[in-house]
Order: sequence, then C-alpha cells, then structure tokens
Amino acid sequence: MCFSVLTVIFLVGFITLICYIRGVNVWKNNIQQNFPPGPRPLPLIGNLHIMDLKRPHETLCKLSEKYGSVFSIQLGMKKMVVLTGYETVKEALVNHADEFEERARVPMFEDFAKGHGIIFSHGETWKVMRRFALTTLRDFGMGKKTIEDKIIEECGFLINQFESFHGTPFDTLMSLTLPIANIIVSILQGYRFDYNDPVLRRIIHINNKADRLLGTPMVLLYNIFPIFRFLPGNHKTVYNIVLEINAYIKSTLMECQRQLDTNDQRSFIDAFLSRQKEEKDHPNTHFNEENLVNVVQNLLGAGMSTTATTFQWCLLIMMKYPEIQEKVQEEIERVIGSSQPRTEHRKHMPYTNAVIHEVQRFANIVPMNLPHETSRDTNFKGYFLPKGTFVIPLLASVLRDKTYFENPEEFDPRHFLNMDGKFVINDAFMPFSAGRRICVGENLAKMELFLFFSSLLQKFTIRPPPGVTDVDLTPTFGITTPPMPHQICALSRT
Ligand code: HEM
Repeated sequence: MCFSVLTVIFLVGFITLICYIRGVNVWKNNIQQNFPPGPRPLPLIGNLHIMDLKRPHETLCKLSEKYGSVFSIQLGMKKMVVLTGYETVKEALVNHADEFEERARVPMFEDFAKGHGIIFSHGETWKVMRRFALTTLRDFGMGKKTIEDKIIEECGFLINQFESFHGTPFDTLMSLTLPIANIIVSILQGYRFDYNDPVLRRIIHINNKADRLLGTPMVLLYNIFPIFRFLPGNHKTVYNIVLEINAYIKSTLMECQRQLDTNDQRSFIDAFLSRQKEEKDHPNTHFNEENLVNVVQNLLGAGMSTTATTFQWCLLIMMKYPEIQEKVQEEIERVIGSSQPRTEHRKHMPYTNAVIHEVQRFANIVPMNLPHETSRDTNFKGYFLPKGTFVIPLLASVLRDKTYFENPEEFDPRHFLNMDGKFVINDAFMPFSAGRRICVGENLAKMELFLFFSSLLQKFTIRPPPGVTDVDLTPTFGITTPPMPHQICALSRT
C-alpha cells in the first residue's frame, strides 16, 4: 500500500518535470509550425483545468467562439485539433476525406479492440471490415423489405409490452432498448429473444453501464494518462464488460459454426463464417475470429444504445410538448389511419419526419463524435496538421450551428419544414457524422425510429406520471448523452 502511494508520487513528480520541459516546447512549436491556435497549456495537465469533464463538448463550443472553427487543445500531453461548425466539419470529413478518414488511437479502445473490427480499427482492416459490414447488412435486408418486416413484427411485441403497464408509470430505458436490441441481434444471429430472456437483459444492462462509464471523467483521464492503467477504476469495469460481451459473442459463434450451411446463410455471422471458409488459404485474410468478434460487438454496441437513446428522447420530448405530440397523431390518423405504419408512409408525413429529425438534432446524442486522426501531413484552412494529429469533428457544434438553425437551443420542428409545411432536409443535420467514417447503421436507425415511433403514437398518448408537472430535458452524460432517468405513462388511445 505504502509502496504504491510512493510509486504514484514518484511517477507524478517525474512526469511533471518532463512535461514542464516539454509543455513549454510544445506550445512554442505549435506557433512555429503553424498549428491551430488554442489556450496555453499548463505543464502535465495541458488545458484540463478549463474543461468541463462531464460535458467537454460545451467547453469546446465556447472555446471556438474565441479561437475560431479550427483550434487546438491539449489534454495532458495529448494535442488535439477541434473542428467546429457545419462548413468546417464538412470541409474536413467530406472534401478532405482521404486526410481525415483515420480513427484516432484512444488507449481505452485500443486496449479492448486491438485494432480489430470497424469502429476502432485502422487502415486496411477497417476498409475491408466496413465494406463487408455494409454489403452484408444490405443483403440481410438493411434498407430493404425484410428488415422492415422484422421491425414491424417487433413493433407488435413493443406495443404488447406498453399495454402490459395499463397506463401506470414505467422507466423507458429497458423497455425501449429491448426491441432495438432484438433487431440488431436478429440481423447478426438470425433470431430474436423473448423480452424476459435473462441473456438479452444482461447484455443490455452491461452495455448501458459501459456507455455511461465511457463518458465519465475517470475514463477521460485514463485515456489522457494511460500510464495509470494499473490503478482500479471505471476503465477496468468497462474492460471487464467488454470481456463479458465478447465471451457471449464467442459462445454464439460456436453455435453458428456448428449449424453453418454456406448455401443457406441466415445471418450476418453466417455470412462472415462463410467468407472465412472461402478465404482460409489466403495468408493475409482479414476474415479471422478477432475481427468477427469485434465487428459483431461493434454492431451490437453501436446499434443498441444510440438508437434506443434517441427513441427515449422522442418519447420524453412528446411528453414535454403535448401539442406537438397531438399534431404527429393527427398526421398518423390522416395518412396511416389504423393500418400498420410502413416506411413508404414517411414521405407523406412531413411533420412526423420533421419531429424525428429535430429530436435527433436537439438530443445531440454523440456530441463529441468519435475522434479521427490525420492519415498524412495535411494543410487545412491555412493550418498545418502533421500525420497522426488527433482530430475532434465536433458534432454538437454542427447540430447547433446558428447559421443553419434559427433557434439552435430550442426544440423546434420548423427547422425541417418550409413555409408550406413540406419537409426540407437541412445540410447541417449530421447526427451520423459524414464522410468515409459516417455511421454504418444510418439507414437502419432511421427506419427503426420512424416505424417504432409512429407505431407507438398510433396506439398510445405519452403523458408524465401523475404529479410530475415539469419534464426535464437536461441530458445526463456518457459516451452518448441519454436523458435523465425518468418514467412515462402510455395511455391507450382506443
Ligand atoms: C440514432 C442512431 C445512431 C447514431 C446517432 C449514430 C451515430 C454515429 C456516429 C456519430 C458515428 C461516428 C462517425 C465518425 O467517426 O465520424 C457512428 C459510427 C458507427 N456507427 Fe452509428 N449511430 C447510430 C446507429 C447505429 C446503428 C443502428 C449501427 C449498427 C447497425 C451503427 C453502427 C456504427 C458503426 C459500425 C460505426 C463505425 C463506422 C466507422 O468507423 O467506419 N450505428 N455512428
């Protein structure tokens, strides 16, 4: 115990000294090398002292008012470049796609993905895995009828679940994640779970916990000072959660392997295993078990919490603004009546479509985006960014860009409607990011949100629990930004 404390004190002292010497040089070098401007860093901690560690995107938005749309920040010893506002983020991710496509190396993610999968992989592995995921998701119905049918079937189970509460208050986190999780599970594994299945509930529970912990100041600090990896803390809990999810995935893979019929592929995993078989003699194949486990884990993790969090916001916001909810219900009655909502209805429902877009803009669920890295030396907007520069294309600043949204801080569906009440897309609607790393599940998420949302509002009116007079729209924090824990009442409309 005593030894550990002394070791830590010694390490901190030693690192402070090195950092002080380097910190001054780094700052001077920034100016000399035409690196973007930013607040002057302190030794060891860089600019950590000015960051709101729970809501770092808010500090970064404020800093951009002083330093412009391309500026630098230093957390610990790590220099980062922050891009803000629609024009700048689009210029980087779309117009300089080659230079900004790489994923930054973040200690926590490198620890558990080790460069495998899609989200945290790099170079050729990323290209091959991403291409495979996109084509296979499409083949298994992403953006097509079969997945629509799966979602519609799941809507039935979701409605039954809501009915079972008989209008009494319930928490939405688990209730709304269950159907979303089942869609991605059925694409990956080929079957859905019962809502009471302990395995499904456990995966949702630990995945949500990891999401929350990944956004804590402790994990942020770990990513800045990975040298302290031996200390206990949230980074260890997240690591153990990933191990547990991967163990579940491995046991599923064994079952799929046993039943595999390459001529009758029933799921994403079957498709991967078949390709692995085809390429078994290629010495440099990327179709190996590590990539399979990580791709499945990426799609499961990314496919569940993001969409479910957005769906939670949809219902919370309807509860806050009953007049908007009523207008959505009127449109559902007029266009769909009592039939089953289908994706083809969406183009005839400008108001509902605008409300869902506005929820995604307002909820801003991945405010910091995932970090990118320059893949080569890059000249960007008059600055020089060396190869390997850590880049944050700040989505929060795009979704609240004053030039594109009249009332960026307010929930206002008119951001997506013209004077005639027709739906208009707004260029700065970028919740899925943009460019080569744009979200793989964008189409799936959009389809799920429309079908689940319109199916629920067709059958229920969402109201606050008795006694709740003010609905709080303050987000909590995590790697995504969910609403505060809350309850809703779903009152049957029939
Ligand atoms: C409302 C729902 C969703 C939102 C807001 C969202 C948002 C995002 C964002 C901001 C990124 C980072 C893009 C970048 O690095 O520039 C991302 C990446 C990713 N998303 Fe989503 N996502 C959603 C749903 C989904 C779903 C349903 C899936 C799976 C089917 C998915 C799979 C992925 C994957 C695999 C990546 C990594 C892409 C890459 O690195 O090439 N997401 N998403």
